[in-house]
Amino acid sequence: MKGLVLSGGSGTRLRPFTHTSPKQLVPVANKPVLFYVLDSLREAGITDVGIVVGDTAAEIEKAVGDGSRFGLEVTYLQQEKPLGLAHAVLLAREFLGDSDFVMYLGDNFIVDGIRPLVEEFGRNRPDAQILLTRVSDPSSFGVAELDDDGRVVRLVEKPEFPKSDLAVVGVYLFTSVVHDAVRAIRPSARGELEITDAVQHLVDQGSTVHSTLVSGYWKDTGNVPDMLEVNRQVLEGIETSVDGDVDDASEIVGRVSIAEGARVRRSRIVGPTVIGPRAVVEDTYIGPFTSVAEDCRITGSEIEFSIVLADASIDGVHRIQASLIGRKAEVAAAGEAPKSHRLVLGDHSSVRIRIQ
Ligand code: G1P
Repeated sequence: MKGLVLSGGSGTRLRPFTHTSPKQLVPVANKPVLFYVLDSLREAGITDVGIVVGDTAAEIEKAVGDGSRFGLEVTYLQQEKPLGLAHAVLLAREFLGDSDFVMYLGDNFIVDGIRPLVEEFGRNRPDAQILLTRVSDPSSFGVAELDDDGRVVRLVEKPEFPKSDLAVVGVYLFTSVVHDAVRAIRPSARGELEITDAVQHLVDQGSTVHSTLVSGYWKDTGNVPDMLEVNRQVLEGIETSVDGDVDDASEIVGRVSIAEGARVRRSRIVGPTVIGPRAVVEDTYIGPFTSVAEDCRITGSEIEFSIVLADASIDGVHRIQASLIGRKAEVAAAGEAPKSHRLVLGDHSSVRIRIQ
């Protein structure tokens, strides 16, 4: 079985964190979403992986390399234009050969991995298997309609009036029959070859299409409460490991991972929390469900249930909660009078200030 990871897209999603970095590299608990995808393929026993890349090819290739550090052999497949998920299958034809494969969208994330799903597919070997999850906003997804026996009867891409709350998750398992389907379909109204239409084509041709309901699903929609929630879920599963340098005046409570090169002085850190390489934490309280990425500097502050991306600094601020702080961002107390807020915010930033 092979893996096909889609990591194209133009990377222009309108929110601060993907202005400068592809959405597949948005970190959850200090690890890019794409890395979870690659790890979960390997854990499912899949090591021959094609990654379809677009405009952001250079950043993706820099982050993933030849795949060896994930235990994978990675082949990059260039998609010149974002012409759709089924188009990605078309262009990967030679790489895939006649193998069964898992297609995994690089901005999707299943908290507990995909090993049981791959095993289920191997046992039953339908022509295709899709994953579904219940969502509150089905019109942002492909939506499935099932019959009374749970068989897929219809799939509609981002319907205005969804017939169910069952969203199609961005992980698909296929046998080689899908290659005929992606050749048979025509571009949709948004000008893309939709994988949803290819799966519908399989259903119409009488192929067996199984569906499995999953929970613990997340996709990068640029929504901050969602990011904080997936960060919380992943942190729930971390183990304690203190490789950084923690002084005696500091207290570490619960499951906390402190990476090598990090320095903690006169601080209290309550897990589950991760502190990245070379981060400096001084005279600070870091509360549960917080991810502090590499090279951050947090001094004289309090922060919890938050994500701080690489190289950011926070100085003298009490207390930060439910926040997402971008790369190289600076948050500091404004000491002198007049008592005012001084803000330099990037495009699409959002700030909530506590009125005294
Ligand atoms: C794609 C699929 C959609 C699926 C979604 C999951 O949408 O077309 O059916 O529900 O991925 O992430 P896209 O995110 O490319 O708009």
